[in-house]
Amino acid sequence: MSQHLPFEVTISISRTDEGARQTFNVPVASQATRVLDALLFVREHLDPSVGFRFSCRAGMCGSCAVVINGKEALACQTAIASLNSREISISPLRALPVIRDLVTDMAPFFKTFKSSHAALKAKNPDNRLPQVLPPGSTRRQLIERQNGCVTCGACYSACEWSSSRPGYLGPAALNRVLMLALDERDEDGLNRLDQIGVADGALRCHGLGNCSVVCPIEIPLSEGMDTLKGLLANVGS
Ligand code: FES
Repeated sequence: MSQHLPFEVTISISRTDEGARQTFNVPVASQATRVLDALLFVREHLDPSVGFRFSCRAGMCGSCAVVINGKEALACQTAIASLNSREISISPLRALPVIRDLVTDMAPFFKTFKSSHAALKAKNPDNRLPQVLPPGSTRRQLIERQNGCVTCGACYSACEWSSSRPGYLGPAALNRVLMLALDERDEDGLNRLDQIGVADGALRCHGLGNCSVVCPIEIPLSEGMDTLKGLLANVGS
């Protein structure tokens, strides 16, 4: 549907205080107007009590992730014109407790990184020289393919296992594990796979691929999960 500027959209926002959804009419003046701009318009002109998170407004901090018309996305990066609809539904991320309106408690998501021990352990922490992975190496290329996560939680929200099984590590943490397992500068390397190849680790992934579809950085999370499962199979054999 082509949108002739300016136009007006109706946005429906999930409200916790109201116990239901609330709708607001918001003017859209530019092709570049983002969903976050609409939320800011609501808060500044229509209802200052609407709760939502944002910080960088540049797709870097990941704090503005919500569900827009049924799909996880960054509000600051989603142009309203690109949605091809005059009706926009905005809901909080799934699989996470809602604090207020569109604000979720991200603690369960961040806990997955801690549970998966997804932090680099330097092989030689006293070495002050730069440790470089050869740019042409297969491992470096795989790591670069999976790099760039802004920890927005969109993949965790879209993953059906994350919502139905709270202990599941989820796509973002497992992607981090994969990157570390491939990183030859990491002391644990492939050994760290022993820590996640259990009940709530990568093998629980059913490969539906929702994580890759919603990732705002377009990281091929599902492909990464396949790579991780392959590494796990090799380690176990
Ligand atoms: Fe930082 Fe949207 S506000 S990613």
